[in-house]
Amino acid sequence: MAVRVLFVCLGNICRSPMAEAVFQKLVDDAGLTDEILVDSAGTSSYHIGEPAHPGTRRVLSHHGIPYDGRARQIKPEDNANGTTYLIAMDSDNLEELRRRFGDVPHLHRLLEFATHANGHDVPDPYYTDNFDYVYRLVDDGCRGLLDAVRRQENL
Ligand code: 4NP
Repeated sequence: MAVRVLFVCLGNICRSPMAEAVFQKLVDDAGLTDEILVDSAGTSSYHIGEPAHPGTRRVLSHHGIPYDGRARQIKPEDNANGTTYLIAMDSDNLEELRRRFGDVPHLHRLLEFATHANGHDVPDPYYTDNFDYVYRLVDDGCRGLLDAVRRQENL
C-alpha cells in the first residue's frame, strides 16, 4: 500500500502547497511517484478552493516546479488509518492536528527533518512576503523528510 504524506498549514495557500510541490518533485525524481502519495491541506477554511498565493507560485515557477492545486481544509479521513505522515509547518498547526486527531504516530513539524534550518517553525510568509526564505526552509525540510520516509518505509 502506498505511503501518504500530507503537509498542513493554516490557509493551504502559502507554505503547505509549496511543501507539497517541492516534495512531489523530489518523490518523482526518486522514481517513487506510485509509492508515496503527496497532498496538502489547511487547518482553517479561509481559502478553500483558491489557487496557491502568487508568492508561492512565483517561487515554485522560479525553481521549475509545477503546482496547480487548490486549497482545501483537513478532514477526518486525512488520518483514516493512522498511517499518513501528517507534516505541520509550525507549532500552531501541530497543536491543531493533535487536537483533532490525538497523539497519532506520524505527526511532525517539517523542520524536524531539516539539516541546515535552525528553529522549529516555517514562518508564515502571508504577512512578511518572504517566500524565498520560506522556500529554502521547505526545501531543506523536504529533503530530510524524504530520507526519513524512505528509511522508515524501506523505499
Ligand atoms: P499559509 O499562510 O498558512 O502558509 O497558507 C496563510 C494564508 C492565509 C492566512 C494566514 C496564513 N490568512 O489569515 O488568511
